[in-house]
Amino acid sequence: MPNSMKPMRLEDDRLFLLDQSLLPGREVWIEIRDTEAMHEAIGALRVRGAPAIGIAAALSLAQEAARAGTVAERVARVAAAAERLRAARPTAVNLAWACDRIVDAARGLASSSLSPASWSDGIRAEAMAIWNEDLAASEAMARHGATLFPTATRFLTHCNTGGLATGGGGTALGVILGLHREGNRAIRVWATETRPLLQGARLTAWELRRAGVDAFVVADGAAAFTIRRRGIEGVLVGADRVARNGDVANKIGTYALALAARAAGIPFVVVAPVSTLDPAAASGEAIPVEERNASEVTAFAGVPTAPDGMRAENPAFDITPADLVTALVTEQGAFSPPSAAFAAVDTPS
Ligand code: MRU
Repeated sequence: MPNSMKPMRLEDDRLFLLDQSLLPGREVWIEIRDTEAMHEAIGALRVRGAPAIGIAAALSLAQEAARAGTVAERVARVAAAAERLRAARPTAVNLAWACDRIVDAARGLASSSLSPASWSDGIRAEAMAIWNEDLAASEAMARHGATLFPTATRFLTHCNTGGLATGGGGTALGVILGLHREGNRAIRVWATETRPLLQGARLTAWELRRAGVDAFVVADGAAAFTIRRRGIEGVLVGADRVARNGDVANKIGTYALALAARAAGIPFVVVAPVSTLDPAAASGEAIPVEERNASEVTAFAGVPTAPDGMRAENPAFDITPADLVTALVTEQGAFSPPSAAFAAVDTPS
């Protein structure tokens, strides 16, 4: 995938993350040596984006699996580490899903009388499978998403949903970058800055520039007006969790974009791999919304912007009702209404 950006890398058994909290100013790779370091990195958004935190957690658990001990001791250690990591961020279901998958593999392989080394190789293979499946899912989502926009050239997107947010491909931004790579139309993108942590201005803008896409950053408050005045033809976003009825949890501000897209009569399309679907959540009401530190809102880059002592609410995500979602694109196709994506999961072809 040309121009794709992987947010993590392995060097032999050493695990490194590109510290996204420092981008675009500095490209710093940090080595993750244990569960606590990964927990901190996920909580501080050094690695972020629903699929990316799942993959990072899986690789971290594989690292725990490789430490000395009997298979039984290692299984217990991996299970405890998984509990710790899945609590690092509550909304993106990919994190819990990846942790569960590694713990299931750890327990399943333990019943096969393998040596500790072979057992730990099996856990590493499972983590790599999670990563590779995500890359394949990104490619498929880019293909399916493109079918919804046969001629459109002007898109608005929110937060960061590219290589940095996934295993290196992308969800919503992956669709847009795929259309750009086709090379037969001049794609233009408006990226919302995505307050308070600026994933759009810092990360999406960085990926768009690396890919050579004609793009602008707009303040979040300018999005609805931009849709109207620039003739945006589609709003594409990712998701952190999709409930069974098709309600979508995604970065705070997504709901407002869905309302603006509906008012303008343009498609509002959510792009997310199957690992983001949560069959256990009946509706958006069942999705936990992460509340982050108020200081992210009352200060900017460490400088106070609100009166001393001012309280703030800082939900990191919001819930967009299913009826505002024109289509949900997964690696299995484009589904409308979005709840139809669950039928393909329940009865895999
Ligand atoms: O807080 P973040 O940066 O982890 O939030 C990320 C998002 O909300 C993305 O839109 C979502 O994870 C989909 S990414 C492919």
